[in-house]
Amino acid sequence: MTFNLQPFWEAELAVQIHVVCALLALGIGCYVFLRRKGTSVHKAFGKAWVGLMFVVAASSFFIHGLKTWGLFSPIHLISVFTLGSLVWALWSVRRGNIRAHKQTMIGLFAGGLVFAGLLTLSRGLLMHKIFFAGGVGSSIPSPMEWPGGVYGFIFSIFAFIFISAGFIGYQRKSSS
Ligand code: HEM
Repeated sequence: MTFNLQPFWEAELAVQIHVVCALLALGIGCYVFLRRKGTSVHKAFGKAWVGLMFVVAASSFFIHGLKTWGLFSPIHLISVFTLGSLVWALWSVRRGNIRAHKQTMIGLFAGGLVFAGLLTLSRGLLMHKIFFAGGVGSSIPSPMEWPGGVYGFIFSIFAFIFISAGFIGYQRKSSS
């Protein structure tokens, strides 16, 4: 695996903002999930995470790489879902519905951020060029590319279930 930031510097501003905020959200998200809930630290970092996720979703509407439907692609549906879920999670916690807040946040983190992040490692996309630029890593098939795309699909589903189950298990353990 070789690391090459050149494709990042050459990318459009919207892509740069999108990637930086997504990676920050990934880091902060892990921290928030692993810390105790309801503390002032949880609230402060949680707000930062929500802000970053808004920017990640909003900036994606300025990225038009795939162009499946006019300027947009099915991945933009994740962005719409993310914006709706963020509003729902905030509304839930304001109304004291902690269960809905927790479930929505776990779904957003595992389904939106981690799953979407894994897909960006597909060959031909920017994150693949950054992390697997030449060298040993470039010969490893990317998740979406294994024969016929079938293994890629199965890999993604398993990764999604594995990560979600891990987080749900952890949440249950820490709240019992
Ligand atoms: C760690 C997480 C993420 C990373 C590293 C990432 C990275 C990227 C990059 C680099 C692109 C530009 C296309 C390319 O690769 O050449 C992109 C496009 C996009 N991303 Fe993300 N992203 C992440 C999470 C998300 C999330 C959470 C959403 C939804 C809320 C999202 C929605 C999109 C959309 C809609 C596009 C445009 C697809 C198109 O070209 O039609 N991404 N992402």
